[in-house]
Amino acid sequence: MLVLGIETTCDETAAAVVRLDADGEGSVLSNVVLSQVAEHAAYGGVVPEIAARAHVEALDHIIERALAEAKTPIRALDAVAAAAGPGLIGGVIVGLTTAKALALVLGKPLIAVNHLEAHALTPRLTDRVPFPYLLLLASGGHTQLVAVRGLGDYVRLGTTIDDAIGEAFDKTAKLLSLPYPGGPAVEQAALAGDPLRFSFPRPMQGRPEPNFSLSGLKTAVRIEASRIAPVTDQDVADLCASFQAAVVDMIVDRTRAGLRRFRDVAGQPSCLVVAGGVAANHAIRRGLQRLGAEAGLRIVTPPQALCTDNGAMIAWAGAERLLAGLTDGLDTSPRARWAL
Ligand code: KG4
Ligand code: ZN
Repeated sequence: MLVLGIETTCDETAAAVVRLDADGEGSVLSNVVLSQVAEHAAYGGVVPEIAARAHVEALDHIIERALAEAKTPIRALDAVAAAAGPGLIGGVIVGLTTAKALALVLGKPLIAVNHLEAHALTPRLTDRVPFPYLLLLASGGHTQLVAVRGLGDYVRLGTTIDDAIGEAFDKTAKLLSLPYPGGPAVEQAALAGDPLRFSFPRPMQGRPEPNFSLSGLKTAVRIEASRIAPVTDQDVADLCASFQAAVVDMIVDRTRAGLRRFRDVAGQPSCLVVAGGVAANHAIRRGLQRLGAEAGLRIVTPPQALCTDNGAMIAWAGAERLLAGLTDGLDTSPRARWAL
């Protein structure tokens, strides 16, 4: 089964072709991602209007490249999948409308994929992870702990009550005049810093419900930074290291709480999957590896190219849904908000 996947919910214009074999094995035939980071960098974050226009300009070429790299003639596709939300509505409209046009012309099924479901199912493509498993999704836009019990069967255990984790990295970077996106810059600066110099709060520590909170931490960094003048490179490094240490402690504590909740709703997880741009952070990975060792749980981190926003995850979710007979009508609406 060959499925084209289209992703335009945020600041990546992406398309991919994925094959799902009869034995359940998936393979990525192409995965083309055009990042708009340069267009948004000057603003320190994604500007929805700029993103939507950039998707319009790029998407046709990106789809052509994805088909060419997969050596797949367009008529060989079995279905066309697009992320129908949640996300920035302008971009979602561009991707979903394009997918509808292709599905109509080709006479093939349309699959309107929930972007979060696609993140959740990706480890089944990369690592053939069996249900049920615990997913920690952490990016610039999402912070979620999800019990993935089966296809279409997800229980959101916890989320952030304010900022997303990646967003907190981005805002902290902006505050300290580090480049956007902030995560890699903060991680890099933290390497030369003292994580014990500032004792930042560990929000939500010990609470039973596995939610996150980042805004108090961000404020604490701002207050400490404002007390130092002039701010040296060493101060920035120490602020980054102390901030990152607090984030790691919080993520580990909140994921531990998520694991307890998971057992109530879904039994024993096959593993903990860590996905989203933030999963690239080595300190966070090390913290979660410690938690995995403590809980006797395997930690799965899909390759970075497949766990940040991309077309292959949409194509894969589309393929799994198609196999289960779940297709969508051409009247399907794009959705800015769409809970799992
Ligand atoms: O998944 P992603 O590429 O896009 C979405 O937001 O959907 O995630 C990007 C986010 C940004 O907020 C970025 O700062 C963060 O992931 N990020 C990191 C690291 N690399 C990327 N955060 C912490 N440490 C990193 N090494
Ligand atoms: Zn995403």
